[in-house]
Amino acid sequence: MSLLDIAELEVSEIIAYLDRAQEMRDSGSSVKLATSTVAVAFFEKSTRTRLSFERATQLLGASLLSFDPEDSSISKGESLRDTVQTVAALGVDAFVVRHPSAGAASQIAGWTGCQVVCAGEGSKAHPTQTLLDLLTIRDQFGTWDGLRVGLVGDIANSRVARGLISALPRLGAELVLAGPPTMLGDVDAALKTFTNLDEIISDIDVAYMLRVQKERGAGSMYPSDAEYRRRFGLTAQRGEMMKPQAVVMHPGPINRGVEIDGIVADGERSLILTQVANGVPVRMAVLADLLTEQK
Ligand code: CP
Repeated sequence: MSLLDIAELEVSEIIAYLDRAQEMRDSGSSVKLATSTVAVAFFEKSTRTRLSFERATQLLGASLLSFDPEDSSISKGESLRDTVQTVAALGVDAFVVRHPSAGAASQIAGWTGCQVVCAGEGSKAHPTQTLLDLLTIRDQFGTWDGLRVGLVGDIANSRVARGLISALPRLGAELVLAGPPTMLGDVDAALKTFTNLDEIISDIDVAYMLRVQKERGAGSMYPSDAEYRRRFGLTAQRGEMMKPQAVVMHPGPINRGVEIDGIVADGERSLILTQVANGVPVRMAVLADLLTEQK
């Protein structure tokens, strides 16, 4: 079954993916998918998601078709539908798709009949990011139950935030949101919201800092980078106000000196590179599940 949105997964399915990812990371993968082919098609830029899906495909022994829209016949006017059907006709078992429009991954599944993993879609969904974030938190604390997680910044534009808002409360964590009112968006009224990071920083177990997405117009939602940093930036001073065992997360890429200072991003509390590393076994677990099911 395609993986399009974390909201479509039951808690038991989320935990099954995480357990499988943990096993693949800690003991290696016994799954070998030499007869499978994965097409990685990113219609938006990426470093960590794209490379970790490619690495996961290699480690599973599957073949990789890496498709770059900018070097394709899309530049000659070929439609998305004709393009993905053409790629599918080359012999593809699963697509990994990033696209700026919500709903694109589901459409591609319908047009091609292939399994599709959404690798980030507009501001709506990024399910494997949520899975790797959940694995990173569980590794650190052993559970999500009872943790207080602060989600800070550009919530309105963030597919990463949407995923965590869907999953963490179902797993027993308390979520609190902090950001400029213009960036809080249409959040669930049951969630507590704050308009200054100082109101929550000393009381959270995880400070999950969101990237200010300037490419989606977020830069016009606050007066200046300096003002944003003053109220919401995770500075060294705010880092020192955190609980002794509290950790810092960020999906990347980072705007250093805006939502997080370099000294905190590179500091002892930071799990940012652990998140990146966990992306590989999580994506192996997802691809193995899809491709094994299909055989
Ligand atoms: N977290 C994330 O999706 O990063 P990339 O855009 O580099 O893939």
